[in-house]
Amino acid sequence: GSYPGKVSIRIADSDIDFHAEPGDPLLRAALRSGIGMAYDCNSGGCGSCQIELVEGEIEDIWPDAPGIGARARKRGRLLACQCRPLSDCVVEARVEDRFRPVVLPQRRSVRLVGFRPITHDLAEFTFASEDGKADFQPGQYAMLALPGVEGERAYSMANLANAEGQWSFVIKRMAGGAASNRLFDEREALEGLELDGPYGTAYLREETPRDIILVAGGSGLSPILSIAAGIARSEKLAGKRVMVFYGGREAKDLCAARQLDRLFPDGHRFEVIEATSEGEEGAREAGASRVQYKGFIHEVLAAYLKENALDFGGFDYYFCGPPPMINALNRMLQLEFNVPEDQLFFDSFL
Ligand code: FES
Repeated sequence: GSYPGKVSIRIADSDIDFHAEPGDPLLRAALRSGIGMAYDCNSGGCGSCQIELVEGEIEDIWPDAPGIGARARKRGRLLACQCRPLSDCVVEARVEDRFRPVVLPQRRSVRLVGFRPITHDLAEFTFASEDGKADFQPGQYAMLALPGVEGERAYSMANLANAEGQWSFVIKRMAGGAASNRLFDEREALEGLELDGPYGTAYLREETPRDIILVAGGSGLSPILSIAAGIARSEKLAGKRVMVFYGGREAKDLCAARQLDRLFPDGHRFEVIEATSEGEEGAREAGASRVQYKGFIHEVLAAYLKENALDFGGFDYYFCGPPPMINALNRMLQLEFNVPEDQLFFDSFL
């Protein structure tokens, strides 16, 4: 039966309804119930989850969230990921099959069980869940809540689903970032960590006639490692050509080639192309799987495909990294090279 505080939500003009636990954002309540409510970042930034309240009472958790403009807000629009129902509600919302979770997201307590530095500002953190569950698709993310830090942060998993309940993330230390500084500096003392997930629709699609390109910058390495591991074990993708592009500012930021070597100690079939946007042009090893370029990673990607006479439309693209990188890639692939939108998989939560 229901208990006090649980409210029921109905989606207008449909036969969809679900329950929300007290304090759970509307979007997450929908996803936990297996309903494909439209979303992307789950963090108030992208605007994909806009809804309209038809009936009932809702609390706006973040009235200044950048995902919604002042005008839309004035018209009564809300972000489903940034509001909590306070009573039974009826809302207008976009529901589509492609947003329906493949694994239902859940909250669980976790503790830190592993820490491994990768570069001067990237490290891998591994958490173990107390219920021993770690079920997700390669490329998905989870929300991490740290005691004493307001809000949650979205981090993409770097590993694969496993029976040990381990969730690994490559995390970047952000200048002035409360959450990442806490993780890096006080990791030994962290208690009461909560992980909520999995979320995200930019996960590996094994049913594809195309080859695959992975692109990352910074901590975008995290989902790329997970997707690479997913590709490597997939029989369906066994014959596919796979390229990995990784961009950093300077040579000391580059780590994708090394991390892939570490992940596959017996070797792998990925072509790894790394580039720095500043500093010297790196070595180009002819015939090797490793080439180092100078330039922004989207430019390097374009140059590389042209140089090898490859068709831009012949690939599925997975990318993760800082918003300027995501935007540049999106613009270039869609506008300049006419790659259909449904071949592009990315998150915009960073
Ligand atoms: Fe809600 Fe991005 S703003 S999912």
